[in-house]
This record gives sequence, structure tokens and C-alpha cells, in this order.
Amino acid sequence: MFKVRDVALAVQGRYMIEWAEKNMPVLMKIRSEFKETRPLVGVRVGAVLHVTKETAVLARTLVAGGADVWLAASNPLSTQDEVAAALAEENINVFAWRGETEEEYFWCIERIANSNPDIVIDDGGDLHIFLHERAPDIASRVVGGTEETTTGVIRLRALENSGVLRYPVIAVNDSKTKYLFDNRYGTGQSTIDGIMRATNILIAGKIVVVAGYGWVGRGIALRARGLGARVVVTEVDPVKALEAVMDGFNVMPMSKAAGIGDIFITATGSIDVIRAEHMLSMKDGAILANAGHFNVEISVSSLENIAVSKKTIRANVIEYLLPNGRRVYLLAEGRLVNLVAAEGHPSEVMDLSFANQALAVKYLVGNRGKIDAKVYRLPDDIDSTIARLKLTSMGIEIDALTDKQLEYLRSWK
Ligand code: ADE
Repeated sequence: MFKVRDVALAVQGRYMIEWAEKNMPVLMKIRSEFKETRPLVGVRVGAVLHVTKETAVLARTLVAGGADVWLAASNPLSTQDEVAAALAEENINVFAWRGETEEEYFWCIERIANSNPDIVIDDGGDLHIFLHERAPDIASRVVGGTEETTTGVIRLRALENSGVLRYPVIAVNDSKTKYLFDNRYGTGQSTIDGIMRATNILIAGKIVVVAGYGWVGRGIALRARGLGARVVVTEVDPVKALEAVMDGFNVMPMSKAAGIGDIFITATGSIDVIRAEHMLSMKDGAILANAGHFNVEISVSSLENIAVSKKTIRANVIEYLLPNGRRVYLLAEGRLVNLVAAEGHPSEVMDLSFANQALAVKYLVGNRGKIDAKVYRLPDDIDSTIARLKLTSMGIEIDALTDKQLEYLRSWK
């Protein structure tokens, strides 16, 4: 079963997936192991992920392991319609198209929940929350779940702390081979890519304000600086703020940064980070973009309320005229700019994230009924194996501890 924009796009979608496969050697290695050992035979996997060429490589890998895969999008604007079409042709049950309404978005998620999945994969937590709130009977039959992103893990820990989590979840986001690479280098590059594709402006010399100095904010600040931007960081956490200072960035509150920034990028995971009072003090021409999971970091509703008029001036760019005569430009409707205006993280980095997903699914199936309904990290040895496989694929060798070193490091003397 499927519902996609246009199945005629499948050929282009297949080429896109093949292109991603060339750059995802770790996941491809896992796929060939899955083909031999078939660890997922009889397992239905329900996934809510950005439907991109990289997600298709993961879906094909799960199918190679024997799984029956059901897939919907984790954002109404991030689906690559060509990829969705190609997957539909490969008998993957895909319900996703770019430009879903809010209602259609949840209709698609409901299709995944109603498929009665054994394993659920989510990016942002909407599927997990849907199962817990709207389909508790189905949730109680779920063997286990995974979660891709920081925002989703926060929501799952809240479920766990309230004592209502119904199945064990692997927080894939919390693997080192995920957050240190995907959140930092993946979002760092793809966010700047989204801003450049949407606006085609020069980054060099601009004042780029990055809200949030977690792994995502760090990556964005690093890449913006690499392109010659003068980078300002805003933070609420004093330790992270201090790190940003010592990494050489200007740190100040948003109330001050608002008046000097050319480009604002939110990466906090929080709500209302850029509010009406900030927008009203911005320079004429300021650009607003969001890199966090949900479209709540820039208060778009406030912008809609205070604006005198608005117009779409090019794809993914809306100009708002403010009562003070200045204009601000909102990219990608305040949704994830990297997935809406560009193609999300490059395949090389999703290789690591989705290797974690594939091995987390295998782990949950292999430990069916043996783990409590809590949030876990993947075991460290799996994290290290993924890093080793990636290094090998890059032709990079590293040292091993000698017996004498091992003994020295184990000793307290
Ligand atoms: N999240 C960020 N980038 C992504 C991509 N390329 N595919 C799937 N999920 C993503």
C-alpha cells in the first residue's frame, strides 16, 4: 500500500537512492550481512523519518534483513517525492509527499501506527506520542522503538519519567557516532546549504547569529565561520555560553544580537527563541532560518500577527513587511531549513546515523521481551564498531593498545 505524489517519478528516485548508496558504505556493509543472516524475517518495522534518498537506503537495508517496512514522513515539507515514488515501486508501504497539510501529516502517521508494527523508528517523536496517546493497544504490542533526534529523545524521557512509556526505546541520537557527526557536521553543512540554496546570498562578512550552542549550534557556527561570517552565539546555559566564548565566538543575549544580525539561525530545541520584540528590532533585510526539529523556535505566529503584509519572493523565502517599514525574510516557513530548502544531511553522515538505526532494530529484535520499557543508548561496542567500519571505508588505520599499555591502563598503581 502507498500514497505518494506521483509514481512516475520513480526512475529519478532510484538514481537518487543509488547515488546515496555510493556514499553510505557502512550501511551497505550492514545490508550485505542482513542479506545473509536475515535477522528481521517476520518483523514489521513502522518508521516515521524524513523521506530522503538516505532514508531509502535504510529502508532497503531493513528489507534486505527480512523486514516488512511501512514509512511516513517526519515533516510535512521534507519528503523527496522522487524517492517516495521509487520506494512505493519497491513494495515499501510509503505514505508521504512534499507539502502535506497538518491533517494529512497525521493521517500518514496513523497509517504507520495502524500497520501494527513490531518495531517503530521515529525522528522527532510524533509516532511514539501518537502510539501512546491515540493507539495504546497497538503501543503495548510494540517490541521496541528507536529515536533519531534530540527533540524526540527529550519527549521519550518525559514519557519514561511519567511512568507511561510502553516499550523499550534506543535513543539513537545519543550514540557518539550519531550526535558528534550528524548533529554537528551534518546539520552544520546542510543548514548553511539550505540558506544558500534558498537565498543565494554571500555568507562572507555577514553577521550570523546562532541561537543554541549544543552540537547542532556548534556545527552551524563552525561552518558559518569557515565561510567568513562573523558569528554571534546566544545561549541560556552558562557552560555552553562559556565554551562558545572560548571557541572564539561573540556571545550575547538575543535582545542585543537582534539589532546587529544579518542571518539568524535557531538551533535550541526550545520554543519562541525569536519573538516579536526581537523581530521589531532587526535590521531591514534580516533573514530568519530554523535548524531545530519543530517550527516553534522562530515565533512565526507573532511574525504573522505583527506583519503589515507578506509575499513569497522566491521558493522558500517569504518577505514580511513590519509596521516600522523594515522587512524580514523567513526561510522554509520556519521549518528545518536544511531539509526543506536543501536535501538534509549528506549521505556520508547519514551513513553513521542509519547504521545506528539498523543495528538498533536488530538489537531490539534480538532482545525481544528481555528489556524493560525504558530509554537506552546502544551499547558502546556497537558505537565503536560503527566508527571502525567508517574509518575502514575511508582507508584510515589507527593504532591498537599493546599488552603493556592495556596492563598499565588497568592498574591502579
Ligand atoms: N535528517 C537530516 N538529514 C537527513 C537526511 N538526509 N535523511 C534523513 N533524515 C535526515
